[in-house]
Amino acid sequence: MLIRRADSIIPSEITPRALFERRRDFLRLSAGIALAGVLPSAHAKLGPGKSSPYSISETPTPLKHVTSYNNYYEFGTDKEEPARTAHRLRVRPWTLQIDGLVKQAKTLGIEDILKLAPLEERIYRMRCVEGWSMVIPWLGFPVASLLKQVQPLGNAKYVEFITANQPENMPGVGSRVLDWPYVEGLRLDEAMHPLAIIAVGLYGEALPNQNGAPLRLVVPWKYGFKSGKSIVRIRFTDREPRTSWMKAGPSEYGFYSNVNPEVDHPRWSQARERRIGEFSKRKTLMFNGYGEQVSQLYTGMDLRKNF
Ligand code: MTE
Repeated sequence: MLIRRADSIIPSEITPRALFERRRDFLRLSAGIALAGVLPSAHAKLGPGKSSPYSISETPTPLKHVTSYNNYYEFGTDKEEPARTAHRLRVRPWTLQIDGLVKQAKTLGIEDILKLAPLEERIYRMRCVEGWSMVIPWLGFPVASLLKQVQPLGNAKYVEFITANQPENMPGVGSRVLDWPYVEGLRLDEAMHPLAIIAVGLYGEALPNQNGAPLRLVVPWKYGFKSGKSIVRIRFTDREPRTSWMKAGPSEYGFYSNVNPEVDHPRWSQARERRIGEFSKRKTLMFNGYGEQVSQLYTGMDLRKNF
């Protein structure tokens, strides 16, 4: 991954057009959710910081940074590019295919997905492998609610997340920086963990395109690149999926990619991180601070080998 010093960020440069489109999309989405009867309860019940027992109480990173300092290589490798170009992502109509080792494969429309489970606000710590971090108030639901829609077969052990490939709208996929579409994967028990969510919004609004609209995986105890954006297909498999980053740099990016301050990236230390918007660095926490909830998933595993 390209290394960029976090303190070189330029303050938010969201264009009026991007802002406008984000608002328009939000209005559309909230109309959809309100019809589904989900939005009123989600918003009436959820207040920042106390909405979910899974939320942390740290101060969220300002919205302008969350939406203007992004990694979404399909829209360019510079941090500021996705905010400028991701308005081109086509987010409607949107379907999600769930297949592979399942009894009955399904294709769900985004409107039906939004009705599957009540939306929760989850304030999560997010740690990028490049050494920066943010705190983001996501709006979403557990990945488990989605996976339960199909009956996985007994030999299904992994889940592959395949993201959108829209060459006509994505200026970045012309480059060979990664193998497209962007693919990520989790072990089935990781995907079923209650902390793993599908985000459909942040800061109470629909996901901005640059953050992975309309469906984005969020796995807060792993490095940010595991959280695939704009998911179109979920495939159950019996073999560890080969992810885009593993293909690009097998010695640098492992399948597990759990946040681990004790295991350095071959080119830099992972011991500390810079929270976007702050000046001094802080210590990186094991499993990004979620160890109490997730460490039992890795009992008996050598985390240096399974990095
Ligand atoms: N998903 C897709 N489809 N394409 C990407 O380039 N980048 C990943 C991840 N998901 C990426 C992606 C990386 S490297 C990170 S750190 C996070 O998204 C960044 O998410 P954010 O821009 O919302 O902070």
